[in-house]
Amino acid sequence: MDYSEKVLDHFMNPRNMGEIDGASGVGQVGNAKCGDIMRISLEIDEGVIKDAKFRTLGCGAAIATSSMATEMVMGKRIEDVVKITNSSVAEALDGLPPAKMHCSVLAQEALHAALYDYSIKSGVAVEGLKPPTDHDHDHDHGEEH
Ligand code: FES
Repeated sequence: MDYSEKVLDHFMNPRNMGEIDGASGVGQVGNAKCGDIMRISLEIDEGVIKDAKFRTLGCGAAIATSSMATEMVMGKRIEDVVKITNSSVAEALDGLPPAKMHCSVLAQEALHAALYDYSIKSGVAVEGLKPPTDHDHDHDHGEEH
């Protein structure tokens, strides 16, 4: 399986690993099939992401996508973070092998779940944000891990 240089780099040197104390919003999601878990915490001030950290218990692609997702949101406004999709994260990593695209879905979901948590806690409505779905996805997972 071919991974881009960027995927390998983010896997071997993950950015923003950890958890923000007293985060404005925290999102944790999992993939029921592989059992991988991703948790993203965000510090948000006046609609801008001031800090983002992740903890991922999962495969290399899940670690790389969560690392990249935290990099991508830094300094962005919430409205722009809502628009980040799993494919934009995968693109920022110069692509993922097809069997690993679902790992980037976790990154999108964790990000959106953290924003949702923020909007509940702060009472700030985030336009375009859907409530997190349950975690038992049907998307194709492939065999490997
Ligand atoms: Fe489960 Fe990558 S997220 S294999």
